[in-house]
Amino acid sequence: MPERPEPKLHPETIAIHGSDRRGQEAGAPLVAPEVRSTVFRHNYEHTDTDFEYTRVDNPNRRDFERVLAQLEAGHSCAAFGSGMAASAAVFQALEPGNRVLIPEDLYHGTRSYLLQIAARWGLEIVTVDMRSEADVERACSRGISLVWIETPSNPMLHMTDITAISAIADRAARKNVLDCTVCVDNTWASPMNQRPLLAGADLVMHSATKYLGGHSDILAGAIVAREHAPIFPRIRQIQQLGGAVPSPGDCHMLVRSIKTLPYRMRGHNDNAMRVARFLQESSRVTAVHYPGLKTHPGHSIATEQMSGYGGMLSFDVTGGRDAALRVVAGSRLVQPATSLGGVESTWEHRRSVEGPTSNTPDSLIRMSVGLEHIDDLLEDIEEALRLG
Ligand SMILES: Cc1ncc(COP(=O)(O)O)c(C=O)c1O
Repeated sequence: MPERPEPKLHPETIAIHGSDRRGQEAGAPLVAPEVRSTVFRHNYEHTDTDFEYTRVDNPNRRDFERVLAQLEAGHSCAAFGSGMAASAAVFQALEPGNRVLIPEDLYHGTRSYLLQIAARWGLEIVTVDMRSEADVERACSRGISLVWIETPSNPMLHMTDITAISAIADRAARKNVLDCTVCVDNTWASPMNQRPLLAGADLVMHSATKYLGGHSDILAGAIVAREHAPIFPRIRQIQQLGGAVPSPGDCHMLVRSIKTLPYRMRGHNDNAMRVARFLQESSRVTAVHYPGLKTHPGHSIATEQMSGYGGMLSFDVTGGRDAALRVVAGSRLVQPATSLGGVESTWEHRRSVEGPTSNTPDSLIRMSVGLEHIDDLLEDIEEALRLG
């Protein structure tokens, strides 16, 4: 029979079939089983397709890595036990003395890791407002080894132009004769809304705990790399030797969750847009931060760079901290909880969560808009705003 060319598949199809390792024989299960065995029989030839020991590689982990790499239009993927373990592997792959450029608005755990742990091991952390290309250019001209982008950012929803920043990093690297890796934390957008590797980034980082898992019951992370990213072999080594890997069961669940990711993200995008518009009309709300709104300063970048504006937003309420705390305590459906990306809506007073070093406004509530019926959600939010 002539060989059939590999078809170019759409994300919805990749999400369902991209992890396939099902047998062709009659009776083969359609869903790959969870492989709990930590050890596999030796053949001593160490080929890439063999498994030996689960810390190094495991069939379920490989399934998850395969489907996520395809969804991100990447070449390779390394899975970790949490988003922070994935980020930490990128930082550990650098050399002591290297400089890391981070944005002012950034997931507070990433900033804390860099300042409290990575800096002690010799990385120098440089902070800029990444919305300013001139500031990024100036910082890069002094020699930067890693540009860490988070867009939309947590919790202020700042937008960074990935194409522009990647081009600046590339120019600076050539001039300084120094590798400069661009890594994008794509957790908030998900690969359904934004594909940074196609915009020029070298790496994508995910907290798979959020939209990829999607049901608030898995902790995991991943790094996806473009082809020939010079830093990736080191990240793979850190994954296998460092051992901060996800369990086979969590990878099995992730593969299952990802099958519905495209449809879940459409629901998150639609509901978040409706919530953002609703909040804009409320007299209790002084500002809404959502890139889908035309009034958002990063709206044109988001429209260019994203295929959906995501399920995350934040907003400021009148009455400051006390009022914000009353609002988040006053909902019936929207759960007062941290994290994000689950099917259920959650919100929180972000400054209280970030602690004493936080620059987040006291009046700010961060919301992860879930998949409840929009009318029920809006009614719940309206009532909470009235009580607050
Ligand atoms: C944008 C972003 N990046 C990274 C992380 C860290 O992920 P994890 O909690 O899975 O370690 C989070 C967690 O909230 C996040 O929001």
